[in-house]
Amino acid sequence: MKKVTTAIIGTGFMGRVHIEGIRRLGHVEVVAVAGSSDASAKKFADEMGVERSTGDYKSLLADPSIDAVHVLTPNSLHFPMSMAALEAGKAVLCEKPLTVTSAEAKKMVALAAKKNLPNAVCHNLRYYPVVQHVRRIIESGELGEILHVQGTYSQDWLLYETDFNWRIEADRNGELRAMGDIGSHWMDMIQHLTALPITSVCADLATFHKTRKKPKVAVQTFAGKKLKPSDYEDVAITTDDWGAVMLHLGDRARGAFTVSQVAAGCKNKFAFEIYGTKAGVQWNQEEPDRLWIGHRNTPNQLIVKDGSLLHPKAAAYAELPGGHSEGYDDSHKALYKRFYQKVADPSVPVEYPTFEDGLRGMILLEKVAESAKKQKWVKV
Ligand SMILES: NC(=O)c1ccc[n+]([C@@H]2O[C@H](COP(=O)([O-])OP(=O)(O)OC[C@H]3O[C@@H](n4cnc5c(N)ncnc54)[C@H](O)[C@@H]3O)[C@@H](O)[C@H]2O)c1
Repeated sequence: MKKVTTAIIGTGFMGRVHIEGIRRLGHVEVVAVAGSSDASAKKFADEMGVERSTGDYKSLLADPSIDAVHVLTPNSLHFPMSMAALEAGKAVLCEKPLTVTSAEAKKMVALAAKKNLPNAVCHNLRYYPVVQHVRRIIESGELGEILHVQGTYSQDWLLYETDFNWRIEADRNGELRAMGDIGSHWMDMIQHLTALPITSVCADLATFHKTRKKPKVAVQTFAGKKLKPSDYEDVAITTDDWGAVMLHLGDRARGAFTVSQVAAGCKNKFAFEIYGTKAGVQWNQEEPDRLWIGHRNTPNQLIVKDGSLLHPKAAAYAELPGGHSEGYDDSHKALYKRFYQKVADPSVPVEYPTFEDGLRGMILLEKVAESAKKQKWVKV
């Protein structure tokens, strides 16, 4: 495989996950990182063993030896950073949600197409091996016609009014928070698996903490538990702690899901259930190697990931033998692997979520927001 060089913009939770995943690919080298200041970027680069660092991401983009860039910053920065990277001729892997508005996402899709550059949005959760098995058994008709889907993405890390993060502020995150942050993954997943587009939504959103206590110092994702009460100031909150959406998919399938960042005890509970005319499946990210398959007239099954026994088109997503867990980090690696195959060799087919998928996600989020405001069904 051709050697590729890449750079990371954003030195937080995702910065670390992406560098570790990229390094496991072998043929891709992380040559530089950009952070919000020279000092934070240097500290992170030293910790991660990356040689170059900067507080000015544009200086990385000016380097012609860098082939690709990962955009791993708060959502409102995805658009200017990705556009600048595309203009500089870099392949771009951008975190989700792709942007803050669909208008921005459209511009990113158009520029990536004009420049003919590989582009991906990081819906990594698609790539658990067992999830790919679900995709392929649905495709081969084992579930029959899909009748309905349901599920949740529930977390508890923003349960207390003292929990804070840039995601809580609409100007850095976008209008929708729980829905944009984790609902975007749920809607991407269900369309990816069923191959049915979401055609209408009816949404309800709630902000339980109308005021939160904002730390006077910056807090990294999931790190809020370490602060003391005296470190906060009160701020008004408009973004959603919780949301529920009813869905129409394709011609006649129905669905419903909830999202929450205030569900005590749920750490990263991303669960879906898909029911067809022949069989059903249930999966939960907190036990990613297991899949429940339900039948009407024969005993239900609980299958455990084993690449050699998965659907042949899903087998390649299992990189470890049966009984050896593959988790969150592995789902990232699986996406980067396919993205960098494309960067190294433009002739390979696209097998990862692109900016087009990110644009679709942004349109859906805007329809969810519109529906919640009107308290009505909205067509997509
Ligand atoms: N795919 C997933 O599973 C997943 C999981 C978590 C987060 N995310 C997404 O990843 C993105 C980052 O989230 P996170 O949890 O890593 O946040 P984070 O707060 O942990 O990290 C964000 C980083 O961006 C840096 N930053 C801010 N302004 C910058 C600038 N001008 N130039 C360079 N760097 C700057 C911050 O210093 C920080 O290091 C978000 O879009 C989020 O939605 C995706």
